[in-house]
Amino acid sequence: MGSNPTFPKLTFERGPLRGDVRVAGDKSISHRALMIAAVARGTSTIQQINRGEDVLATRDAIVALGAVVDDRGADVAVTGGSLHDPAGTIDARNSGTTVRLLMGLCAGRGIAARFDGDASLRRRPMERVARPLRALGADVQTTAGRLPATVRGIAAPPPGGNFALEIASAQVKSAILFANLNARATVRITGDRFSRDHTERMLRRFGRTVRFDGTTIELEPGDLVAQTVRIPADLSGAAFFLAAAAITPGSAVVLREVGVNTTRTGILDALRAMGADLEVRDVRELDGEPVADVALAYRPLEATTLAGDLVVRAIDEIPIVAVVAAHARGTTRIRDAADLRGKESDRLTTIAETLRACGVEVREHPDGLDVTGGGAKPPARTLRTYGDHRIAMAIAALAAPTGSHTIDDAACIAVSFPEFVPLWRAAQAAS
Ligand code: S3P
Repeated sequence: MGSNPTFPKLTFERGPLRGDVRVAGDKSISHRALMIAAVARGTSTIQQINRGEDVLATRDAIVALGAVVDDRGADVAVTGGSLHDPAGTIDARNSGTTVRLLMGLCAGRGIAARFDGDASLRRRPMERVARPLRALGADVQTTAGRLPATVRGIAAPPPGGNFALEIASAQVKSAILFANLNARATVRITGDRFSRDHTERMLRRFGRTVRFDGTTIELEPGDLVAQTVRIPADLSGAAFFLAAAAITPGSAVVLREVGVNTTRTGILDALRAMGADLEVRDVRELDGEPVADVALAYRPLEATTLAGDLVVRAIDEIPIVAVVAAHARGTTRIRDAADLRGKESDRLTTIAETLRACGVEVREHPDGLDVTGGGAKPPARTLRTYGDHRIAMAIAALAAPTGSHTIDDAACIAVSFPEFVPLWRAAQAAS
């Protein structure tokens, strides 16, 4: 087969992981820092920002909306102000967070914008955001519930008031908060269930009052003032290293300065429940977010069950949990995870197909998977990533205990973690 430079193949090899790793900056937090800085008064500096394609899509979008960005690489300076209509369509590329949060930001400040994305993003549901924005009075049109979409924001500042989330989604919650940043009165949101709270924390960091009593989020009227913010390492990127170490004899890794916000640590709870030798050390605060060094050494694992709030707190880690389950004793059950079908790929099907290609027994359910450990072996063919960065990196972890796994598209990894392959190779070389 001829090589295709757009979709380069890549082979991950067997071998334990060892040593200290500082993975890329948190993708979710990086998006929020850019967007909030774009509407804050003054110049903010965002340090250790995630350099993946998704965050670059947000960077380019806020420039199109009128923010001034000085991109120095690891650090980015953003001068905020009153945004304006973009000259052309905002291309969110592969990034659901970019499009959903920015639709909210535009809806609350009278901005008219058209949004589009790549083929994968065009398949993802947008009505979940469009509906609450229409309730605010914005004119939001989707294409049969999907992209392309247009938003014509309301001219006057929103009145404040109550919103109920239909689904435990941080993106929907954040879109509502962003639409109401300039609201004249208190905004209340109910219906959240442990979805990530990075928007609330970043708003506080930029000077706003945001309360959460376990039931209701309250945002008070106020100003946003520029800040310097250092971004924690991304637990969702660290998860691949932790998972591979957990299933590969001889491994011992320490992931440095990783975000350990409890709305994200479902993966750590799942690994512990499976019996992993895991230690969260030196928990400290970094610009409004808890971070720690997470140490993990190999030891044999047992199956577990993931459902309910634990799935929400591990929403992007279900593929890697399934990989770990393939090496645990017994059958791991994952339930309440139907929303995974609307991610960058249908992650229940794509990880099930991947594991089956590696000899693993997997049963798919409408909202989950049963994965039986013990059968994983190197695949006889090149594995598909389905263009999904998290499936590509999950395959790296799948290779570590067994042998060579080749993926059809290494380029998609850059969506969240362009530094992944050199860091992975270094961790394997350290053994
Ligand atoms: C994200 C929220 C999650 C997650 C996505 C990033 C965010 O989506 O899957 O990768 O940054 O807010 P939902 O909020 O739709 O569950």
